[in-house]
Amino acid sequence: MIVPLKIAVQRLKKGEVVAFPTETVYGLGAAALNPEAVKETFRIKGRPSDNPLIVHISSRKEVYELAAEIPDNFNILADSYWPGPITFVLKKKSIVPDIVTAGLDTVAVRMPDHQTAIELLRKSGPLTAPSANPSGKPSPTKASHVLSDYEGKIPVLDGGPTRIGVESTVIDLSGNIPGILRPGAISEEMIRNTLNREIQSYNPDNTQPAKSPGVKYTHYKPNASVHWLNKIPVKFNTGSLYVFHSAAELPEKENIINYRGNYTRMARELYDIFRLADRENFRHIYIENLEKFNSISILSALKNRIEKAIGI
Ligand code: TXA
Ligand code: MG
Repeated sequence: MIVPLKIAVQRLKKGEVVAFPTETVYGLGAAALNPEAVKETFRIKGRPSDNPLIVHISSRKEVYELAAEIPDNFNILADSYWPGPITFVLKKKSIVPDIVTAGLDTVAVRMPDHQTAIELLRKSGPLTAPSANPSGKPSPTKASHVLSDYEGKIPVLDGGPTRIGVESTVIDLSGNIPGILRPGAISEEMIRNTLNREIQSYNPDNTQPAKSPGVKYTHYKPNASVHWLNKIPVKFNTGSLYVFHSAAELPEKENIINYRGNYTRMARELYDIFRLADRENFRHIYIENLEKFNSISILSALKNRIEKAIGI
């Protein structure tokens, strides 16, 4: 059910789970310092307990309560990109329950750039919030996605469709060299330019040490199978959905979408397209290869989420 802010706050304070909007995707909120409430998010999502959660906050000073060490790189990046779609992994303080961090000695923190989320967080205190989808499914970018995934059983604070549409960049600042654990709207290049130093690129194969447990699980998968498309087909199959982004001449058909170079919109709508394909029983989704188009900041995140959906 959709709930107003006041009810959302009341429920969260009681240790219940409430979904809320952010600028990236909807999150499944729970009081971060209440282990029983956090446990409930793992149960509802069907999330493996070794996959830690992000703690969402409404002010910079809360970081001092959660993190044991605040590196300069954090201050520089937070000055530039917070509130916003970037999550920092820092050495944790013991106040953060083990269930939140899956027993790691680090905690992930993020201040979302979304007015409703900030209002909620101000009143409720820090909230853990994994994306509000059952584990393995595409993340929700609209309140209606959460309602349908959980058959209306989870209370949802509706903030309209999310602006960015893919999850935050996750960057590890707990070691000597900053390392990207998950690409997002704040790109590697932006971070490198801001810090003016080398950083470790995102590398899905780099599981030693297993820094971000989340990357080993399947993610963002619709029921339809997803494929890269290397050239415009001669014939379009009615059982398939086609997604293009370079401004090619294409037939006007219901199963053909063309973003015409608008990658921001493509990222915003990606999960909605996955969901639409499932609702309309498309068996395949063909997406024009993004290989040649790599200079726009959202592209590495977009490509990463599509590859996850393909199963690469
Ligand atoms: O945009 C987002 O980040 C959304 C919205 C709701 O804020 N949240 C989100 O949460 O995507 P989730 O749980 O779906 O993804 C969190 C990612 C996972 O890959 C997890 O492994 C990683 O962050 N993570 C969390 N805590 C970590 C830690 N202490 N060390 C390394 N990785 C961590
Ligand atoms: Mg997720």
